[in-house]
Amino acid sequence: MHRLQCILQAQRCLGWGPLASVSWLLLRACRAHSSFSTTTCPSPEGQQEDGVRKDFSSRLATGPTFQHFLRSTSVPPEKLSSPDVVDPPPYLTVDELLGRQRKVYLETYGCQMNVNDTEIAWSILQKSGYLRTDNLQEADVILLVTCSIREKAEQTIWNRLHQLKALKTKRLRSRVPLKVGILGCMAERLKEEILNREKMVDILAGPDAYRDLPRLLAVAESGQQAANVLLSLDETYADVMPVQTSPSATSAFVSIMRGCDNMCSYCIVPFTRGRERSRPVASILEEVRKLSEQGLKEVTLLGQNVNSFRDNSEVQFNSVVSTNLSRGFSANYKTKQGGLRFSHLLDQVSRIDPEMRIRFTSPHPKDFPDEVLQLIHERDNICKQIHLPAQSGSSRVLEAMRRGYSREAYVELIHHIRKSIPGVSLSSDFIAGFCGETEEDHLQTVSLLQEVQYNMGFLFAYSMRQKTRAYHRLKDDVLEEVKLRRLQELITVFREEATKANKTSVGCTQLVLVEGLSKRSATDLCGRNDGNLKVIFPDVEMEDATDSGLRVRAQPGDYVLVKITSASSQTLRGHVLCRTTLRDSSAHCSPD
Ligand code: 5AD
Ligand code: SF4
Repeated sequence: MHRLQCILQAQRCLGWGPLASVSWLLLRACRAHSSFSTTTCPSPEGQQEDGVRKDFSSRLATGPTFQHFLRSTSVPPEKLSSPDVVDPPPYLTVDELLGRQRKVYLETYGCQMNVNDTEIAWSILQKSGYLRTDNLQEADVILLVTCSIREKAEQTIWNRLHQLKALKTKRLRSRVPLKVGILGCMAERLKEEILNREKMVDILAGPDAYRDLPRLLAVAESGQQAANVLLSLDETYADVMPVQTSPSATSAFVSIMRGCDNMCSYCIVPFTRGRERSRPVASILEEVRKLSEQGLKEVTLLGQNVNSFRDNSEVQFNSVVSTNLSRGFSANYKTKQGGLRFSHLLDQVSRIDPEMRIRFTSPHPKDFPDEVLQLIHERDNICKQIHLPAQSGSSRVLEAMRRGYSREAYVELIHHIRKSIPGVSLSSDFIAGFCGETEEDHLQTVSLLQEVQYNMGFLFAYSMRQKTRAYHRLKDDVLEEVKLRRLQELITVFREEATKANKTSVGCTQLVLVEGLSKRSATDLCGRNDGNLKVIFPDVEMEDATDSGLRVRAQPGDYVLVKITSASSQTLRGHVLCRTTLRDSSAHCSPD
């Protein structure tokens, strides 16, 4: 095992292509290992001395042979037919790559993409023979799926690592040492810094390296730190069926694309999650079909820029079709052409199961051509809910953010969307206190909140991130207390406006997908309306509109009609009228 790691290290120093490009390993223990005691651990730039080369050549003789390396390319014909059969690298035995019933505890931080990534990582580990536990105390491996979007998100992880340190020290005395791994954006952003700062971290896996988890864990098993933070141009995990964490859930998230090419000046995502790439339509449809067969009632199509979706995976998709952006919007990158676009995908997904609600998040306002709006309008099972991250109400700040639109273009798009999809529910993201934001800019954001009256909002104080354009070119010059005061003002205004917007539902009968018992009361049920707002209603017997005469109590996954009686900024309340189906209730929000 140690020999293997030092060989990989040497491959990296010598610039060996194919194997070195699979992943890289950090070999903190290689100095300590006796057979390589003369080998130094050189810098990534690969400054090594001749002695090391000679030492390496003489030891190569005792390492894996050329035949070992050939073995993985000469797959016997019967294996070729099974995509699951892959020869392990010659230097780790099949047995070492297996989980051997070790228990993994996964903890997720950050956005919905991370929830989905957790399911992908778990799917890969489960196939390798790991077991899942939700009891930290009995875990053999603890993996944190991390977020880097704001400083605060990272601070939470550092604090968590300090807590885990005590657990790990205690385990050192037990039979099986505990292994700790950092997955996702923070692994990608900080790389070695995490391993150096927190010696107790054993593995790092960036967002495109989850397939490598069994190998990284096998390396960690031998007492080494191991990392793979290579970003990929094409990894979409298309063939990895995520394992839903909660098998009773009514809803699932389906990842349709990864990465982001927008390069908004404040955002770390393009650096941690890499270039934009879309998953082939066929594999998305297959996953949605499976979820429908399992009885799920809602899928949310997921991606950093869902509506920039573009499946270029087959030549015939690439006949040049011009790309329509929203009116008045531009892209930060050279306009891409061809491929199957988001409207095609949305159309196909929504045809799979008319009883399955379709949502998508998070879109970019630039990619809302009329064909997408039209489809949302006409298809009953595509929710009339659009997240339209504005980030600021000031055109000056929007330009500094490199968002590709002005306030005027954004407002015009809102009007156009409202005209195209009557009753649409709107939500947005805003950042308070971006570089150079004046009081006047801030007031423009306040006025945008008042003008649009969003139903939901996600508001953040600006957090400067290294590597971004803002970090290099702009000054984080809004004082922390000013950022927080402005954020608080935005929250207050947003709540007032959302309450007004949500109150327009009072008196309406809405279609609600039941999720389960309300967290606050055992006599109430909770579900979501078409606009994704939480609806609370008493858990009572009702008529079943699909089977007259039958009286039923609503179960998770049922559609019910609820008459709305009150509204706040975040929740609607009402009483239930009957159980129904999505198809039978297409005229669902009609005030009586
Ligand atoms: N500081 C604060 N908020 C940010 N976001 C992205 N980057 C930053 C940052 N550096 C917010 C944006 C984005 C949401 C996911 O997070 O509003 O839409
Ligand atoms: Fe970040 Fe902008 Fe990409 Fe969203 S669109 S992930 S804010 S760079």
